[in-house]
Amino acid sequence: MEVVISTTPDEAGKLAADAIEELIRRRPEAVLGVATGSSPLLIYDELGRRVAEGSVSLAKSRAFMLDEYVGLPEDHPQRYLSVIRDEFVHKVDVDPAQVSGPDGLAADLVTACEVYERAIADAGGVDLQILGIGTDGHIAFNEPGSSLASRTRIKTLTSQTRRDNARFFGGNVDAVPRHCLTQGIGTILEARHIVLVASGRGKAEAVHQLVEGPVSAMWPATALQLHPHVTVLLDTAAASRLQLASYYIETFQGKPSWQGF
Ligand code: F6R
Repeated sequence: MEVVISTTPDEAGKLAADAIEELIRRRPEAVLGVATGSSPLLIYDELGRRVAEGSVSLAKSRAFMLDEYVGLPEDHPQRYLSVIRDEFVHKVDVDPAQVSGPDGLAADLVTACEVYERAIADAGGVDLQILGIGTDGHIAFNEPGSSLASRTRIKTLTSQTRRDNARFFGGNVDAVPRHCLTQGIGTILEARHIVLVASGRGKAEAVHQLVEGPVSAMWPATALQLHPHVTVLLDTAAASRLQLASYYIETFQGKPSWQGF
C-alpha cells in the first residue's frame, strides 16, 4: 500500500488523474471503477480539465459504479447513476452508454447483483478503481461486519452512514434510503489498481485503521491491505492519526520518477 499525504487540497485529485491518464495512454479501452460522494469530485474535475485540453480522452474507455441506493426513482438527483452522470460523465468524453451501475430499481434485486457481477467480468474486470472511505471504514457500501470475500449484494446502511449522507438529502436523514446494492469487498479486490482518496479529520480514524490497523470486518477498508496495488491519497487532516506519517512522506518525496503509481 502506498500512502501519499498531500499538502494542498487539489494535489490528491491531480495525482489520481495522473494515474488514470497514464493508464488510458497505455490502454485507451481501460475499464474504470468510479465512486460517488464528495471524495472523488476533485479527480473528476481534473479529468474534465484534461479532456477539455485534449491531453487525455476517455472516449474508448468504460466505467462501472460501486453502488446504488435501492428504490430511488430514476429522476431522483441523488440516485447514484444520476450523480455519476452529473459529476463524471458530463465532465469527460466517456460514452454514457458505457457507464453502468447496479440496478437499484430492479424487481429482482438478487438477480440484478448477479447480472452486475457478470457485466464487470465480461468487460475484463476493472483496471483502476477509485474509492472513498466512510467514517465507519466502509468501502463502497460494505458496512462493518461485511464479509471480506463478499460479492455484489444488497446491504443495509448503518445509521452513521445515513447520517453522513443526509447532507445530500437536504439534511433529512429519513430521506436517505436504508438499503443499497454494492459491489462486495471480494469484487473490489479484483480491480488491478485501487486508488482511495480521503480528506478531512472525520476520516482520520478510518484511515488509520485502513493503513495501520489489523485486517478486520469491523473496518472493512482494512481488506485493502491484502491487495498488491493500492494507492491511498490523503490530506493532512485525514492523515492526522497515522503513526508512520513521516515515513510515508519521506518515502514519497524520495520516490524515483520512473516508479509511477
Ligand atoms: C460511494 C461510496 C462510498 C463513499 C464513502 C465516502 O460510491 O461507495 O463508500 O466513497 O461513503 O463518501 P464521501 O466521499 O462523500 O465522504
